[in-house]
Amino acid sequence: MKKQILIDLEEYDNISDLIPKEQELVKKAKEIALQAYAPYSKFNVGVALLLKNGSIVSGNNQENAAYPSGICAERTAIFYANAQYPKEAIKTLAIAVFTKDAYTQLPVTPCGACRQVMLEAENRYNTPMRVIMAGEQKIYVAHSVRDLLPLSFDSID
Ligand code: THU
Repeated sequence: MKKQILIDLEEYDNISDLIPKEQELVKKAKEIALQAYAPYSKFNVGVALLLKNGSIVSGNNQENAAYPSGICAERTAIFYANAQYPKEAIKTLAIAVFTKDAYTQLPVTPCGACRQVMLEAENRYNTPMRVIMAGEQKIYVAHSVRDLLPLSFDSID
């Protein structure tokens, strides 16, 4: 038997197609991208999170001369939010990237390790996370991390 798995994704051409709160989140992600510490890749990633209580938390990638010791923007932001607000679900996550003197035209999608961490945040609070991947020319919106990580690993029991 052959199976196909479909994922749901919205696609927009312009940030003005998003609701104002989500536009604000993308703006924060773009701002914090400029504060990334990415001297090795020069790929400056910014992430902004909207929490259930309305707070916005943001983070960026932090690199290290010992490459694997660095961490992505998604995990910086999520772990900080979980540390500061352990009871608040993450309702929306926005990603933007500044590299080669400009924000990327196309959306940047999270790496596998970050998807796994995002999924756990979604499961932990039993709340689907909207994921906005914002390029200048195209924006993807997923309704749940499940769409970004089909056949995910959940737990060993
Ligand atoms: N990076 C992120 O912060 N998030 C992503 O979604 C993709 C990759 C970082 C890791 C590294 O600092 C740089 O971007 C290049 O891979």
